[in-house]
Amino acid sequence: MKTDWYKNAVVYQIYPFSFCDANNDGWGDIEGIISKLDYVRDLGATAIWFSPLYKSPDKDYGYDISDYRAIDEKFGSMADFDRLLDECHKRGLKVIMDMVVNHSSTEHPWFKEAITSPDSPYRDYYIIRPGVREGDKLLPPTNWVSCFTGTAWERIGETDEFYLHLFCTEQADLNWENPKVRQEVVDILNFWLEKGVDGFRFDVFNLASKVYPLRDDTAKKTFQKGAQYFVDGPRMHEFLKELNEKALSHFDCYTVGESYRPSPENAREYVKAENKELDTIFNFAHLESDNINGLKFFRKPFDLVQFKDGLFGPQKANFGEGWNTLVLENHDNPRSVSRFSIDTKHYRYEAATMLAALTFMGFGIPFIYMGEEIGMTNSHFDSIDEMKDPVSHFVFDLMHSYGMPKRLAFSFIKFGARDHARVPMAWNGGTNGGFNAGHEPWQSLYTEYEKINAEKDLAAEKSVYRFYQKLLAIKKTNPAAIGGSVEEYDHDSKQIMAYSREYEGTRLFVVGNFSKRPVQYRLPGWTKYAETLLDNYGEFSAAVGTVTLRPYEAAVLEVKA
Ligand code: GLC
Repeated sequence: MKTDWYKNAVVYQIYPFSFCDANNDGWGDIEGIISKLDYVRDLGATAIWFSPLYKSPDKDYGYDISDYRAIDEKFGSMADFDRLLDECHKRGLKVIMDMVVNHSSTEHPWFKEAITSPDSPYRDYYIIRPGVREGDKLLPPTNWVSCFTGTAWERIGETDEFYLHLFCTEQADLNWENPKVRQEVVDILNFWLEKGVDGFRFDVFNLASKVYPLRDDTAKKTFQKGAQYFVDGPRMHEFLKELNEKALSHFDCYTVGESYRPSPENAREYVKAENKELDTIFNFAHLESDNINGLKFFRKPFDLVQFKDGLFGPQKANFGEGWNTLVLENHDNPRSVSRFSIDTKHYRYEAATMLAALTFMGFGIPFIYMGEEIGMTNSHFDSIDEMKDPVSHFVFDLMHSYGMPKRLAFSFIKFGARDHARVPMAWNGGTNGGFNAGHEPWQSLYTEYEKINAEKDLAAEKSVYRFYQKLLAIKKTNPAAIGGSVEEYDHDSKQIMAYSREYEGTRLFVVGNFSKRPVQYRLPGWTKYAETLLDNYGEFSAAVGTVTLRPYEAAVLEVKA
């Protein structure tokens, strides 16, 4: 049943709220997506991952699901979805659905039922515990902290009981210890697989298993109170195997897990082919190279060596054991070209293409986030009120509550906000950037859309999209780019990133300058007879000996077997 189609796949991520609004109501929709499928195929993508399209009250914009078998009305109907699936397949694009089953929305009928009475059959679908009485006070059952700040527990009305939510208050954690919950998940997966979808992206999958009995986290040093009891929990591997046995393995289905800070050992086990758990997981460690300990809002000077460690660690660990993914952006991160100390003002094209070449020629499946392929930068937000993401508001309020002046707090938020990735896609320089026909979009417009948009990029001499096309064409067909081993060069260099990929004697050399100054670089001797497959300056200066790499210059060289 299962094939290896994913191994040379290129996945394009669509955040449906912001891609294209065909009916001009301010929300992106399925009809809009269908109208842009040729654009996605022509880029070179072979699959699309859709951020949630399901019914949701949108407290966390689709990641709080109230019906796993329904399409949210603002995006269209189930008939529209069926047509989308069909239109994707007609173009050779596989469809990967987001699957958010660590938690459901508190508007889900299961949860609404669960809180009606302690005897509800749905009570045990969630993690509900009595609070702790201390004098007049009722404290939460444990001291765990939500991934979105604040306590991870919410009191149920006036009762003495609380439910667990590792994200927003409106995202109640499901109790995976309950076999009925796991059966519900299996049934949901089978529902979509029977419809013909080709894979799933499991949202924060490695939080599903918790350590019982639940207890306070008393460790002194921890990045998050409680994390040791809910990250990579003891039954995680067993749960994944069960989903495979009962659903995934019966279809030609690809899986990618979004893991929340997994340990390196667990990360390996999740994707080891022989374990039959997941095909791949996302690795984000390199995206922590310009912030402090992965705290997105706290900037630090970009550290290229850390970027390389994060990017190559999983490539090396998984090679020969399982498969890998490569990510620069998604709906949870600011735009890559606006990060990593890049001089976007002068070198946006060079930097965007360099980042892509250096990242996606590695070992793993490229995941490209909408707008990345035209080098979209961060948007300019003037105030917190222009931001929609609840996390931006939680963190802003928290900082302010500790006495930080609003202006300063906002400067932190602007640096790390997920909102940058969530502004409407810039299609052209016309009304609302071509997102729709003029209705005010749900989220403020991308402030740079007149300068940076798909139409303009495609017409430009220096087109990021066309560079991606060439890069992805190589990535999908060159055996060394797909399955070649990885060897890093000059790991300690703070300006240059370089590595080779080798498959049956054919070798690729990928090299790039991460700085805005020219850097001299001595190429390894074996590249003497190399052919340049790709270079973001047009002509690679010289493929022999010591070369001068211009600002953000990147090249891919090949020596055939
Ligand atoms: C994942 C999603 C993110 C969401 C969170 C809670 O990290 O990517 O957007 O807020 O899970 O579901």
